[in-house]
Amino acid sequence: MYEKIKNITSLIQSKIPKDFKPQIGIVMGSGLGQLANAITPIATIPYSQIEGFPVSTVEGHHGQFIIGTIKGKNIIAMQGRVHFYEGYDIQDVVMPIRVMAMMGIENLFVSNAAGGVNLEFEVGDIMLITDQINLIPNPLLGPNDDRLSPRFLPMWNAFNVKLREIALNVARKQNVELKQGVYLGSTGPTFETKAEYDYFRVIGADTCGMSTTPEVIAAHAMGVKIIGFSLVTNATKSGNVATDHAEVQSIGQAKAKILSNLIEQIINELD
Ligand code: HPA
Repeated sequence: MYEKIKNITSLIQSKIPKDFKPQIGIVMGSGLGQLANAITPIATIPYSQIEGFPVSTVEGHHGQFIIGTIKGKNIIAMQGRVHFYEGYDIQDVVMPIRVMAMMGIENLFVSNAAGGVNLEFEVGDIMLITDQINLIPNPLLGPNDDRLSPRFLPMWNAFNVKLREIALNVARKQNVELKQGVYLGSTGPTFETKAEYDYFRVIGADTCGMSTTPEVIAAHAMGVKIIGFSLVTNATKSGNVATDHAEVQSIGQAKAKILSNLIEQIINELD
């Protein structure tokens, strides 16, 4: 796996200027691909052009890296990701994250469309992720490669406290209401039953979805600072726990602009 990550990193580096080093990685979740509009691009690399790279089979999940700048900072963004439910090995699911870490990113922004488990949450809410519960297989399972992670990784405060403070300040300035809470990642692809939603609430989740948590583990293992956002696309409060993929997509699009502005401004505040 390490060799594969290294080869893919070299391939991407061969397609961008030699002196371009990304400081920030961004993972755009379902329907949030329009965050890409904030990027001044230098190169776009479809995943399909990268040999051995996992390509999403899900509608609405574009698959490409966009490399460029936001507010003068060098970034590499993933427009689309693959999910464990698509049948990929968990090592492949997090491989793009490890590639970005190997390219030298210091900060990683993750985002997802998620179900609102917290009874106070409404459709369209944006939640700053303070912590996570991973119910998807752990990407660090198996023989350990010290170059990718320590054998035992502390996950306390995996979502960087300083980055979260910056996000809260920016949201206050922009008059954006930012909820805070715990994201739970489960495998999907089924949306939850009512009983499962109740269960997630009891164990401490505020939002739930089918991605992100393994990526956070893999990035944290490589020393990357992480900040994450959930966009609530369906909520218990509205009596709308059951959802469908089209609904997730359309709400993502309507709110992505607000989240995009927020992320742009947070990037602007980074050193
Ligand atoms: N459950 C899981 N994943 C989701 C949901 C949900 O309710 N909404 C959007 N992604």
